[in-house]
Amino acid sequence: MAGDQRGGGNRLADVGEQPGFETLAIHAGQEPDPTTGAVITPLYLTSTYAQDGVGGLRGGYDYSRSVNPTRTALESCLAALEGGVRGFAFASGMAAEDTLLRALCAPGDHVVIPGDAYGGTFRLFDKVLNRWGLSYTAVDQTDLAAVQAAVRDETTLIWCETPTNPLLTIVDIGAVAAIAHEAGALLGVDNTFASPYLQRPIGLGADIVMHSTTKYLGGHSDVVGGALVVSDQELAERIAFHHNAMGGVAGPFDAWLVLRGIKTLGVRMDRHCDNAERVVAMLREHDAVTQVHYPDRNEVAAKQMSRFGGMVSFRVAGGEPKALDVCARTRVFTLAESLGGVESLIEHPGRMTHSSVAGSPLEVPSDLVRLSVGIETAHDLLADLRQALG
Ligand SMILES: Cc1ncc(COP(=O)(O)O)c(C=O)c1O
Repeated sequence: MAGDQRGGGNRLADVGEQPGFETLAIHAGQEPDPTTGAVITPLYLTSTYAQDGVGGLRGGYDYSRSVNPTRTALESCLAALEGGVRGFAFASGMAAEDTLLRALCAPGDHVVIPGDAYGGTFRLFDKVLNRWGLSYTAVDQTDLAAVQAAVRDETTLIWCETPTNPLLTIVDIGAVAAIAHEAGALLGVDNTFASPYLQRPIGLGADIVMHSTTKYLGGHSDVVGGALVVSDQELAERIAFHHNAMGGVAGPFDAWLVLRGIKTLGVRMDRHCDNAERVVAMLREHDAVTQVHYPDRNEVAAKQMSRFGGMVSFRVAGGEPKALDVCARTRVFTLAESLGGVESLIEHPGRMTHSSVAGSPLEVPSDLVRLSVGIETAHDLLADLRQALG
């Protein structure tokens, strides 16, 4: 039972047709508790489980680093939403990435990463795994010839982020999957910015999907977590072994919070998209704004995403001082790192989330401002940005 995550539970199997996204979000892996009928998955705050005689496990549960029922519910739900065979919940997005990389790669291997990867991802490759013998090449993955040229005999993985953080660059998942598979490598996609509601990479050819569940999946800025979902059983076994062996697992309360957040993912994402579209339309008309990054006019995004999400970044006339000034002036948008919660956030990537790429080829423009557009009343968000831009 503990390891079986296929499908969405018995009641969903009886629905007949493949259940819709919101039905899976609310029910997959979340059968009412068999003992009490509790509708909401209980929070199993236990490190260990009584055994009926040595080796007599009840439902496969022995120790909570290896398996915990609250975490299993979340992992089943994640697998159902991403269309994979198995999901894994981690203590953070970075723990998920580190576990994945050390499970799939060995010293001497090589990974192709995005030219504007999330700063923490770049730091993991550049400062941690590089020392351990894993080399990487950062390329603009919108340039498929450059991706192809970066692949070497030792390439075991192409790591892709789409849309990227913070420039909202779109990468063609199907095309990069074809390059990876042709080279005998795997494709992993960081799907944090889109969420499975807007984009499902496994259906487009990816082998592994990763999330910082801290963001849209959790959705309320009250938990840090990460996730991996894999497309086949062999990969699932490799990740499962390392998940347990390395131990960067999600605690039960964190898993419970993410599971609760996921129930409203669809309605939240619709409102994030509505509000972001309003914000983008205003910014595109504003004199103080020189460039807006939002993928609504991108052909590849139109092909692989259902809508374009709640993340927006823009450059301002007046350079870094103006960008910092805008960040300091907002009142509804809170100046803070992170993204994907119900509340709107503003930040300066160059000095905040992406300071770890300063001085590298991945450095972000100093006049760039990033918004995580929340689900507040749209006109309050527009008024706040207008007054901040001056
Ligand atoms: C795109 C992306 N990937 C990965 C991460 C890392 O996730 P976490 O902070 O949960 O470790 C983040 C965090 O901001 C992110 O934005």
